[in-house]
Order: sequence, then structure tokens, then C-alpha cells
Amino acid sequence: MTELATRYGLTLRQDYFGDPSAWGALVDLLQDTFSIDVDLQASFGGPDPTSMPSGYFDGEGRCVANFSAFSMPMIINGRAIKAAGYQSGAVRPEWRERGLYRDLMQRAFDRTAAEGCELDLLLTDKPALYERYGFRSLPQHIFGARTPKLQKSELTARQLSLEAPDDLRLIKTLLQSRQPVSARFAVVRQMEMFLLNACFNSAIRLTALGDDAVIAWTFDGATFWLLDIAGTAVPSLATILSALDVEPERIEICFSPDRLDCEVSPEPYEGYTVLMARGKAADEIIGPLMLSPMAEF
Ligand SMILES: CC(C)(COP(=O)(O)OP(=O)(O)OC[C@H]1O[C@@H](n2cnc3c(N)ncnc32)[C@H](O)[C@@H]1OP(=O)(O)O)[C@@H](O)C(=O)NCCC(=O)NCCS
Repeated sequence: MTELATRYGLTLRQDYFGDPSAWGALVDLLQDTFSIDVDLQASFGGPDPTSMPSGYFDGEGRCVANFSAFSMPMIINGRAIKAAGYQSGAVRPEWRERGLYRDLMQRAFDRTAAEGCELDLLLTDKPALYERYGFRSLPQHIFGARTPKLQKSELTARQLSLEAPDDLRLIKTLLQSRQPVSARFAVVRQMEMFLLNACFNSAIRLTALGDDAVIAWTFDGATFWLLDIAGTAVPSLATILSALDVEPERIEICFSPDRLDCEVSPEPYEGYTVLMARGKAADEIIGPLMLSPMAEF
């Protein structure tokens, strides 16, 4: 029993995703707090197996507060970094301002520190909350690219659907064996958020180039946004545009573009949330950079 659990008649539960009713209670908390349905993940394999949730539950089994850490290996300036991401942080309104969140954050940070994580990452619309725990904002940039010379493509481009089992299998295989999309700043492995983000936004197109790469992109008829590439190798921007057979007026790359063989100009990116980092590897992060929207968590 923790002190807070005793004081408020709650139960602290950790790593509870194996219990369907506790998982359902977290789904409800996130639905009520953020209006998102994380249970959509059920159709493509369930939540991230590396997730370490910590939550307080009341006597009726409702999850009243939660904070989760998960493993998010990164590559930063060519070096593989053991990093943790934090997500699903929420407290039901009637339980706020009693220190539940502070307690759950501290537990999660202690666990990832004990596992030897060199870097902690999170995305938030409340940066002040995390600054007192040593997190610093990382300014993000979106990369406007000059249109490369296009050539006739020999690659077949095929639109994929998460609902088609063979397509889902290909996407998962490539997410597991991918080359990180950037050597400067990118996730090495992250499958669940890529799939969930694709599911959340119906404008995102997933297109296979041959069997070796899946391109995540959107196009509004004028601007082409390149969101991510899950591939055994990262094709150049020219190869991608030629294979997709699009000729946009503007090209915006939503990740660090060092592997794309193209000319870019970075522009400050003001998203709804701020990317924050702390830990001994945080000083190695040098901008301009962007975390792919497909890795957002
Ligand atoms: C933000 C939230 C999780 C805080 O929960 P809580 O249980 O009230 O937090 P606690 O009582 O444990 O307070 C923890 C600390 O956060 C601070 N804090 C709380 N809300 C804050 C806010 N909106 N902005 C900045 N700091 C905040 C508290 O002052 C406290 O600081 P201290 O440790 O220095 O005393 C809760 O308000 C919530 O669920 N909000 C909606 C969802 C959300 O924004 N989640 C965070 C997503 S990144």
C-alpha cells in the first residue's frame, strides 16, 4: 500500500495490461480525458508490450489516474540511445490536486532510471509541469524541400490498408526491420504508435514502394507532407515522389531529412504539443530536428 492509496482508499497497480478490465478502465480514462480511443489498437496487436503503466484504481475498478513509460530506442547523431517515452498521463477531474500525478510520475521516472535509460522524452501541452522535473523543450522544425528532379519510376507504388491482413503484416515487418528514417534524430523501433497514428488520421496514406518501404504521407493537391518511411533502406525524396507520381507545389518533410538526399530549409514548427527531453543524452540532441508525426505518442 502506498501512502496515497491508504489516504484515499485507492489501489496502485503497475503493469496491468494483462488484466482486460484494468486495460478497459485505462481506455475509459483516456477516452474521457483526451477523447481518443486507444482500444483501436486491439485490431492490430494490442498495446506496446514494453509499456510500464502505473495507475490508481478506485473500489469500483475505475482508473482515476495513470502515467505510463515505454521503451523508445532512438538514434541521435548516429548513436543508438536507450530512451524512454512517457504517455497516457491523466487524472480524473475529481481526483486532481492531491499529488496522484506527482506520485505516478516519480514511480515511472525511478523505473526507467533503474533500467539505465539515458534519455527521457515526452510531448505535452503543459511544459511547465515537467520543467520542474528537469525536462527541457526541444524546438522542432519542419523541412521545406526543393522539388528534386523526377524520373520515370520502375518501382510499383501500392496503397495499403490497415484493415487488409497482408498489408498490415508488411507494415509490421518493415517497422520491425526498418532503418531509422534519420541518423540525426529518429526512433529506431516503434510499432504501436505508428499504427495508432495512422488509424487516428484518415488523411494519412500508407503506400508500399515495392516490398521494401512503406511511405506515410498526405497530399492536399498542393502541399505534400512526407511523414515517415518504414523501410529496410530510406529511399531518396526523388525516388519517393517519382514512385508516388505526384508533382506538388510544396514539399514539407516532417522528420530530420538527412537520409533523403535533398535540399531543405528548416522552418520553426509550432505544434499543439511541445517535445521535451531530459537525461544525460539530452545534450547530444542538436537541432534542427523533428520527431516524425507517426512516432508521436
Ligand atoms: C495535468 C494533470 C495530470 C495533473 O494531475 P494532478 O493529479 O492534479 O497533479 P498533482 O496534484 O499530482 O500535481 C503535480 C504537479 O503538477 C503541477 N500541475 C498540475 N497541473 C498543472 C498544469 N496544468 N500546469 C502546470 N503544472 C501543473 C502541480 O502544481 C504539481 O506541482 P508540484 O509537484 O510542484 O507541487 C491533470 O490535471 C490532468 O489529467 N489534466 C488533463 C490531462 C493532461 O493534461 N494530462 C497531461 C498530459 S501531458
